[in-house]
Amino acid sequence: MGSEWINKIHHGHVLDVLKKMPDESVHCVVTSPPYWGLRDYGMDGQIGLEPTFDLYLERLIQIFTEIKRVLKKDGTCWVNIGDSYSNYKDCKSIGQTIAKNTSRENAHYIEKGKSVTRNSRMLKKMGLPDKSLCCIPFRFAIRMIDSGWILRNTIIWHKPNCMPSSVGDRFTVDFEYLFFFSKSNTALYWTNEKTMKLVDKQPLGIHGKEGEDWEWIECPNCESKGMTANGKMCKRCKGKGGIRRSFWTGHDYYFEQQFDQYNKPLNRWGGDRTRDTDYSKGDDFAVKERAGRERRPDGRGRNKRTVWSINVSRYPGTHFAVFPEELLVAPINAGCPEYICKKCGKPREKVYEYAEDENWGGNSARAGKTVEEMGGSGKWRGDRTVGRVKMGPMPRERGTIGYTDCGCGTGFRPG
Ligand SMILES: C[S@@+](CC[C@H](N)C(=O)[O-])C[C@H]1O[C@@H](n2cnc3c(N)ncnc32)[C@H](O)[C@@H]1O
Ligand SMILES: [Zn+2]
Ligand SMILES: [Zn+2]
Repeated sequence: MGSEWINKIHHGHVLDVLKKMPDESVHCVVTSPPYWGLRDYGMDGQIGLEPTFDLYLERLIQIFTEIKRVLKKDGTCWVNIGDSYSNYKDCKSIGQTIAKNTSRENAHYIEKGKSVTRNSRMLKKMGLPDKSLCCIPFRFAIRMIDSGWILRNTIIWHKPNCMPSSVGDRFTVDFEYLFFFSKSNTALYWTNEKTMKLVDKQPLGIHGKEGEDWEWIECPNCESKGMTANGKMCKRCKGKGGIRRSFWTGHDYYFEQQFDQYNKPLNRWGGDRTRDTDYSKGDDFAVKERAGRERRPDGRGRNKRTVWSINVSRYPGTHFAVFPEELLVAPINAGCPEYICKKCGKPREKVYEYAEDENWGGNSARAGKTVEEMGGSGKWRGDRTVGRVKMGPMPRERGTIGYTDCGCGTGFRPG
């Protein structure tokens, strides 16, 4: 992408500006179209005042199809959109807020030379009963999926300081939607957390070379004994005591996981470790933890959840519906690579330290013991027979090891 697009603001009709942008040049789009029938922004060609929601959605899909062209194959698109009510009596007045210095004529949708406004007859014809939510976000999400997007998350933007409402026969709405779409749902590239390589052909994984493509880890089914409690051979590891763990991860699109801090005790005694038999592998805990054992939480926190409480910002200017900056932080951090290759444009993936052996102790009876002393075969991983199980600090930090490299050797630039 040329420098005329980077760190520059381009004003204009969204379709005109998008049409000038090169194909597959953007990693992440975060946007919020005007909601249907809500506001007059006082501009010709503005979105949102179409007489029917079908027309509104058609225009949005046209825009998002153009966004799809501009988005890289491994790109993501985040869309904030809210719902509106079909109040018949509000139809003739054009929405709740008329922007300053605009005339009502601007609010009309221009169709074949004549202006049309949303009106109650039209709503009735569309099958929308009076006072009903129009379900615009759902209709939009379904149309996006129908036009080829992959909906990865529906995020609820909860607004603790929402506008109070005097409507007595329903509750006050204090949220909007943020849809997270991707363009791809199959792996486009693979990264190796050991060699830090990034490749675009599917690697061998556990069928490759030990130490480079995969390593032995303890079998979660028999805890390295190769046998189950009743003396039968463990089916999971076929008696080996260990299973192969691949160093490779496939990526359908660029996404960096975000984390929420733990906000409550992890066990019923108020402590920061937990013994939980319900999860065999949960994102709340380091991958290494097993059912029935004391677990240590991941020092980064837990994978970010999908209800985000963020206050609406009060913007002093005439611009309505300004994004609170905080709403953009996670999408930008998740969707925009810190570095991309100058030549091939591939992102660098951040690699975190894998939760290592010292981390899984937690039980004082095991501390300081070797695998054999604990009754394991020790065959599956040489260094484990030497290493002693330690009691690590709680919770354990998982540092960044570094970034993957596509190997072009031409340097990187911010993504
Ligand atoms: C819900 S607001 C989003 C504002 C955004 N969240 C922010 O913080 O800047 C919708 C914006 O879309 C703009 N808009 C409406 N129709 C447009 C069009 N056809 N082309 C480009 N922008 C348009 C409006 O002027 C308004 O600023
Ligand atoms: Zn086993
Ligand atoms: Zn490259």
